[in-house]
Parts: sequence; structure tokens; C-alpha cells
Amino acid sequence: MDINSFFNVFSTTPADRAEAERRNWAEHRRRCASARDWDWKTRFTPEMNLTAVSWDAKPLFPGVPTTDCGNPAKSLDYLDSPCGQFRYTNAVLTPPHKLRVGWGLMRGTVVWDGPVTIPRLHQRDEVGRWGAGDFRNYECHPWMSITPSEIITQRSGVRHAKGHVVVGGLGLGWLLERVEERKKVECITLVEVNQGLVDWLLPVLRARMGDTPIKVIVGDVDEVVPKLTADVCLLDVYPYYGSNGQHRDKLDRESPNVKHFWAWGGHKER
Ligand SMILES: C[S@@+](CC[C@H](N)C(=O)[O-])C[C@H]1O[C@@H](n2cnc3c(N)ncnc32)[C@H](O)[C@@H]1O
Repeated sequence: MDINSFFNVFSTTPADRAEAERRNWAEHRRRCASARDWDWKTRFTPEMNLTAVSWDAKPLFPGVPTTDCGNPAKSLDYLDSPCGQFRYTNAVLTPPHKLRVGWGLMRGTVVWDGPVTIPRLHQRDEVGRWGAGDFRNYECHPWMSITPSEIITQRSGVRHAKGHVVVGGLGLGWLLERVEERKKVECITLVEVNQGLVDWLLPVLRARMGDTPIKVIVGDVDEVVPKLTADVCLLDVYPYYGSNGQHRDKLDRESPNVKHFWAWGGHKER
């Protein structure tokens, strides 16, 4: 719950809340009247209205029951990695839920005309909280969730992929899978800092991929990438969207044998 919703609960009457709920549903119905099918090429718009039937985020573990609880610490349905550090959920979003979406400096929301499943990956920190970094909404923020926002903001990276591609950061492997599918890609080097995540997810991903060679280096991109030779390096090791261009440019300067760099949230989306 954000701070405004929190205070609204206490500062409004039941009638106000019922009116807010009615408006919410009215807006949802208005938006669903123009719902369109989602596909790889769907463009960002501040109001994205999608059909639920067209949304297929391809869960890594389809057998994990869906959960309507956004908090991985409280959800009853999940799958934990053997190393105990990672938790996977199939989160279900039900109408009239509005999901935030960003592209470059623009922001908007997505609604679907029915329930949809969003695969998510969370990481436990050393004191047992579920998050991927220094998040304000610490208990709930995933490393990766397969949403229109994640897809729209990563596909510019996919379009750069050719020859030998370095993928920095595994997450749920969405980017890795899209890179692997490209005909122009000859081989991939995956650089991921967490051995437990690689051991858990890579076999699952490999089983549904083609046969493009993938070399795995477990390590920190800052130390590994400057020593590599490659055509392109696609970086997504970031908990936050935006302002990752500085890190990309620093690695670019330090890596004389990597021809081109792209970073998620580096604000060069086209
Ligand atoms: C946001 S997720 C990547 C999501 C991925 N692009 C996808 O499509 O599913 C970030 C990943 O980077 C890894 N990571 C974080 N910092 C790293 C670093 N310095 N070097 C290598 N991997 C890192 C995390 O363990 C996590 O798997």
C-alpha cells in the first residue's frame, strides 16, 4: 500500500471509499472496451489496455499454483531454490488491477480485461527479508517479474544482439531466451553473480531453448566483462529502472574488446 492509499483508508468515510471503488471499476470498464491483443511488437502508451487471453508470460514453473499475494514472505504458494536464497511465484493480477509501466522517461499503466499470471523471482537477504536490493517496499520487490514493462524495456536490448553476445544478469532468463532465439546470435556468454541461481534456473531454461552455445561465468560483471571479447554486452544487473547509463558507460570505457554496450534503464530505448 502506498502512503496516499494508507492515509486515504483513515481519512475517508465508507461512502468515499465506495465511490472511489465505483470510479475505479468505471475506469477499468472504459479501458477494457478498447483492449487489444498483446504481442512482441506492442508499443508503449501511457494507457495500455490488453486482452488477458493474449498474455502468455511462459512461467518457468507452470506447476507452481498462482498466488494473489504480492508479498513473497506471506504467499502460501511458491517454489524455493535448492540454495534457499531465491523464491519463485506465479503472481495473479485480477481486475481492476492497474500495473505501472515505464519506457525511457515516460510512465503509464496497464490493465487487462481478465486475470493474468506474472512469473516473479525474489531474493532473500542475509537477514531473511525478500527483496533484491535496497528497496523501499522491501518485502515485495522482485528481482524480475515478467510484465509488459520488463518486456518493453528489454526488447531494445534484444534488437542489438548479434554475433557473440554477453548477457549480464540471469534473473528469470527472459532476456537470455530472447537473445538465444535470434538468428544473428552465434554464441552467448552469461555473467551472473549467483551460482545458486544459475544451478537452479539454467537447466530449466536450456530445456526449452535452441542449441546456441552458452558459456556461463559466475562472477561480478564489473570484474568479468572488461576481460571479455564480444560484439555486444547487454546489462541487466539492476534493481532500479533508469539511471543505469552511467554504469553502462563506465563498463564500456573499461572493456576495449566489447564493441557495443546496452543497459536496461539506460534510457536509450529505441
Ligand atoms: C534484474 S535481474 C535480470 C533479469 C533478466 N534480464 C531477465 O530477463 O529475467 C538481475 C540479475 O543480475 C544478477 N546480478 C546482480 N548484480 C550482479 C553483478 N554485479 N554481476 C553479475 N550479476 C549480477 C542478479 O543475481 C539477477 O539474477
